[in-house]
Amino acid sequence: METERILLRPWRDDDATALFKYASDPDVGPRAGWPPHKSVEESLEIIHTVFHSDTTWAIELKATGEAIGCIGYLSSNGCPIPAREGEPLVGYWIAKPYWDQGICTEALRLVTEHILTATNIPSLISGHFVENPASGRVMEKCGFMATGETYFDATQYQGEGKPIRVLRWERR
Ligand SMILES: CC(C)(COP(=O)(O)OP(=O)(O)OC[C@H]1O[C@@H](n2cnc3c(N)ncnc32)[C@H](O)[C@@H]1OP(=O)(O)O)[C@@H](O)C(=O)NCCC(=O)NCCS
Repeated sequence: METERILLRPWRDDDATALFKYASDPDVGPRAGWPPHKSVEESLEIIHTVFHSDTTWAIELKATGEAIGCIGYLSSNGCPIPAREGEPLVGYWIAKPYWDQGICTEALRLVTEHILTATNIPSLISGHFVENPASGRVMEKCGFMATGETYFDATQYQGEGKPIRVLRWERR
């Protein structure tokens, strides 16, 4: 899946250095509910485990060939967001130097287009911390509609729980 400036492709071992550079930034992971990466070795481990899925993609900036973010969908079982039976959960992040350039919106549109054309998945669920409205804007621009709020116990990462705004995308 691609646009003029980005390519969604599987993660590779040689992305570990870029992944560590961007995912060790304390402004990135905690906004999505995960802790900053602590070493290139940990980033490689994440590539081998968390990112090892047919529906998780590196967001490659074509101009540099570098992985500058991640997007994907996975089972919502066990997540704190109220989802329908079997409804996949979408998640994403972009490296901080590339924020506010429309890149995540472009990537999420590629994913919803993929859902429409290559699957029969009827809907997607996602959510963002209320204190992280930029993520909500991305979803709204891609046709997600707010359904309400829930709460995430983020104590292991940030010392406090946080309200989450929940949004759903539906096939039409
Ligand atoms: C959230 C995130 C993915 C957005 O990626 P991005 O590539 O910068 O997103 P885009 O440029 O496509 O769109 C960002 C939108 O948010 C808006 N925005 C940015 N900061 C904002 C703020 N503080 N309040 C409200 N809107 C804001 C931008 O103006 C833009 O909307 P617009 O096109 O209507 O002007 C990125 O900031 C990120 O990775 N953050 C850390 C991890 C994270 O939050 N992941 C999502 C967890 S739910």
